[in-house]
Amino acid sequence: MIIDGKKISQEIKNEVKLAAEKLKREKGIIPGLAFILVGDNPASQSYVKSKGKACEELGFYSATERVLATISESDLLAMVNRFNNDPKIHGLLVQLPLPKHIDEQKVIEAISPAKDVDGFHPVNIGKMMIGIDTFYSATPYGIVELLKRYNINPSGKHVVVIGRSNIVGKPVANMLVQKKEWANAIVTIAHTAAKDLSYYTKQADILIAAVGKPNAITKEMLKPGVVVIDVGINRIDDPSSKTGTRLVGDVDFEHVKEIASAITPVPGGVGPMTIAMLMVNTLKAAGGKI
Ligand code: GUN
Repeated sequence: MIIDGKKISQEIKNEVKLAAEKLKREKGIIPGLAFILVGDNPASQSYVKSKGKACEELGFYSATERVLATISESDLLAMVNRFNNDPKIHGLLVQLPLPKHIDEQKVIEAISPAKDVDGFHPVNIGKMMIGIDTFYSATPYGIVELLKRYNINPSGKHVVVIGRSNIVGKPVANMLVQKKEWANAIVTIAHTAAKDLSYYTKQADILIAAVGKPNAITKEMLKPGVVVIDVGINRIDDPSSKTGTRLVGDVDFEHVKEIASAITPVPGGVGPMTIAMLMVNTLKAAGGKI
């Protein structure tokens, strides 16, 4: 089975749109999301554009501040603070990465935890870790939601996460280990220090790959029937495509799909879920709920 993240993300966005209409009708509130985009990193520009489009599609208010890469840290912090105090803005995100002269962690911590729809603030990460409802960061949240909507219950299953980043590996492992419905998994995090990665991957009932390397996970490394969630987004050369490149995940999809019971494709798997969950978080920040 191919897990269709595009379809599920559209379903979620439809639900968010209805909930936003209800929030407006009943309380006069329009969810507002602000973006701060520093510099001209093409990937960051493209992400912010897609997120802005999603706001339009769902009837959210959005504001984008584009600033030069030379902005000082104190000017950026002042901008964050303005949005923190802007009542039209319920969610605020500073697109990462930031230029080297700016302390990224300081900027993240300047965002009001109540508006931190990325779920990157230590307060929200801490709440997530101890099982208190909060803003869950969009990619791990999207993975949990995909499993749920495909009726794949991780409870009692061995989830093996490959990768320990702060925005995917660590949070998804923590979300799935919680003693909660649609979690309650036995979780292993493996990473670059593993001498034999396949020792871990072979044990997975559910494998979550967040490695950042094409074909890092092959068929031989997995057991039949495994559920595979591929979080990788890697651009590789492909002379047969118009642009000369194409996107692939971390998993050798063509071969792994023969033995997996379910697998997410790249593109069209986890990727589209990320924006949908950001919209869920922004709706929540404004007081709505799907
Ligand atoms: N850069 C890459 N992913 C993200 C994300 O989810 N949020 C922000 N703010 N920046 C990112």
